[in-house]
Amino acid sequence: MPISVILDCDPGHDDVLAMLVAHGHRDIDLIAVTTVCGNQTVDMVTDNALAVGSLAGMGEVMFARGADRPLAREHRPAADIHGETGMDGPARPANTLILDPRPAPQLIVDEIMSRPAGSVTIVATAPLTNLALALAIEPRIAERADVAIMGGAIENGNVTASAEFNILVDPEAAHIVFAAPWRVTMMGLEVTHLALASAEVRNRLRSIGTPVAAFADELLQFFGERYAEVQDFAEPPVHDLCPLVYLIAPEVFEVRDVDIDVEIAGELTLGRTVVDLRPQATAGRHRVGVDMNVARFWDIVIESIAAIGATSAVH
Ligand code: RIB
Ligand code: CA
Repeated sequence: MPISVILDCDPGHDDVLAMLVAHGHRDIDLIAVTTVCGNQTVDMVTDNALAVGSLAGMGEVMFARGADRPLAREHRPAADIHGETGMDGPARPANTLILDPRPAPQLIVDEIMSRPAGSVTIVATAPLTNLALALAIEPRIAERADVAIMGGAIENGNVTASAEFNILVDPEAAHIVFAAPWRVTMMGLEVTHLALASAEVRNRLRSIGTPVAAFADELLQFFGERYAEVQDFAEPPVHDLCPLVYLIAPEVFEVRDVDIDVEIAGELTLGRTVVDLRPQATAGRHRVGVDMNVARFWDIVIESIAAIGATSAVH
């Protein structure tokens, strides 16, 4: 039975790869893509999501625009990594899709409350503003859905020594999301920095031979150049694939049941995800990734993108 997924994202080079895997893999029913300010403004990331959806044939997927600013802070995009459009590099595909008229938080609430409890998982690969706003509209979504995120870190951040980008953009929203009674599976930097798009991975991607795979490879070209320049990575970490591949094949990952909270009062520690992995800590409600099988991970990614356009991508 496919898992019904709402992908809340800020495309964003790695968010796009997550969109493609969610659309292509037979075990995921991508019911909606919702957008939020993060890598770029919400208007830019929404245009990017619609353009990618048009290229990949996501006509059956709902698209909704979300928050244009964090709950309590100024929005600071990540143009250094994703460029001025949020999806710099390849030519932008023409958009042939239309937005759902509902704001993203309302769509999230409607789809979770109208479907059987436990049937929907939110995959969030961006700041958590939309999820916090959805909880404010209808707290009961936290009794009916699970959440898997790309965000946070057990140790060091990637924007500050303490904080990873998705959490730091809106730490108040992240604090609300982790405090709600649903289970959050957190794929933080310790795992996502293993998801490196090597030359071999990109060769496999190009060998698929479809326009979608070529577009993904061109995105990785730009993403790799920026990660080398800005963060001294030889190969770019495709962070946002991780929570999605976890849903598809949890056995690919090593996880721990932990308590997780978010620092919102600290000066030097603002946005830190505090993951209690102490030996004496009892098993917590949330889950954190600590390792993964990289070969199996990329097999799933390549297989999913290759399926787009083939019959198996049709649900
Ligand atoms: O820190 C990495 C995260 O920030 C990824 O989701 C990337 O897309 C950016 O949003
Ligand atoms: Ca993202």
